[in-house]
Amino acid sequence: MGAVDVIRVTGGTRLAGDVPVVGAKNSALKLMAAALLAPGRSTLSNVPRITDIALMAEVLRRLGCRVDATDADGLGAELAIEVPAEGLGAEADYDLVRRLRASICVLGPLLARCGSVRVAHPGGDAIGSRGLDMHIGGLARMGAEISGEHGFIIATAERLRGATIWLDFPSVGATENLLMAAVLAKGTTEIDNAAREPEIVDLCDMLTAMGAQIEGAGTSTLTITGVDELRPVAHRTIGDRIVAGTWAFGAAMTRGDVTVTGINPVSLEIALDKLATAGAVVETAKDQFRVRMDERPTAIDIVTLPYPGFATDLLPMAIGLAAVSDGASMITENIFDGRFMFVQEVVRLGAEIRTDGKHAVVRGRDRLSAAPVRATDIRAGAGLVIAGLCADGVTEVSHVHHIDRGYPDFVDDLRRLGARVERVAAPPEPEFGL
Ligand code: EPU
Repeated sequence: MGAVDVIRVTGGTRLAGDVPVVGAKNSALKLMAAALLAPGRSTLSNVPRITDIALMAEVLRRLGCRVDATDADGLGAELAIEVPAEGLGAEADYDLVRRLRASICVLGPLLARCGSVRVAHPGGDAIGSRGLDMHIGGLARMGAEISGEHGFIIATAERLRGATIWLDFPSVGATENLLMAAVLAKGTTEIDNAAREPEIVDLCDMLTAMGAQIEGAGTSTLTITGVDELRPVAHRTIGDRIVAGTWAFGAAMTRGDVTVTGINPVSLEIALDKLATAGAVVETAKDQFRVRMDERPTAIDIVTLPYPGFATDLLPMAIGLAAVSDGASMITENIFDGRFMFVQEVVRLGAEIRTDGKHAVVRGRDRLSAAPVRATDIRAGAGLVIAGLCADGVTEVSHVHHIDRGYPDFVDDLRRLGARVERVAAPPEPEFGL
């Protein structure tokens, strides 16, 4: 199917059944960057087949790596990444970086491996302005000289040296970039106020297996003692907690009953607890959980925060839940300044939402009303499709290429859970002239 497809969803069915989740996009992308740190062949399994991973593979290929994907372990792909010992490239171009903001995560590893790097500045996107000051400031503290020129960030350092870095905010990307730079630096680096997301723990696990010395993974202080070289490894990506959370909210919103496998439920503790407060029956077991909702959800307040707080990437699902809950909910977004941009689309579905700065007040309705809506980012796109399940009539979600960036087999998974949903080519836009 093509990039200009739409997803048509007929409201009124509940989601019920089992759905497996594959490896986390936001882990796999960084694990691919981490592979750059060791010459030779690293393999990553449980990698989702999504556009963002394909783009990251292209970033690595242009740096001189060979990247092959096979269907080795059932659900996710296995990626073999062959990193050259000599002549690794050190430039990531705008044509890729603008499509995959996460390509900025090659900055740290390439600087550590090559001593100099040029990465296009990604700019902002549909969820906010998204600064890079902590990435740049941290590398500078480790001795890098950094400048900007013609839209590129240029960094050089013969060898990075250990430093103490205090992050103003526990940025996921800055923590990862600095971590990947520090593992090959001379001396010890301490990253304080580090992000604690499960994907960072996954990255630390891979780096440790490669021979890195890291203490404090999963806490807000990471202590890294640099080593001279690392070796390639085989690593399995952790499950995608945001995809899993999407199904959990989908079950609650449609008064359904869904069992999600392939995910450690601890990584979704607060989200699942919120659903239980809204009236869902939640059962957890090793690497799976079940969410059942028998009645209309009760309105709850949700505040997004860095992990272990409620994930910003589940905000569209939280808004969707609030839109069909009994009562008024206050949803607060603390991570991205533009995250509420998609709210206008949910309003098109009849939701009653008022936003003011970081807050959205949502007055729930029993049912939404189908309308054509537009996906503005990955999570908003998935949230709109799920909201369409709670609407009378057929909701058509356009710009679904956003959903392809983060959800493998989204439509197939929805169908296996009983949704009436199809993906079709968008009708051509009429042209008007004078
Ligand atoms: N920030 C700065 N300066 C920096 C770094 C970050 O001001 O140097 C700000 C950002 O502008 C933002 C906030 O800090 O307002 C948080 O940014 P963070 O660095 O934590 O996020 P990220 O690394 O850019 C990752 C995920 C996002 C996810 C966030 C928060 C990847 C590829 N992306 O982004 O995922 O929302 O962490 O958990 O890992 C998605 O998958 O749809 C997605 C957007």
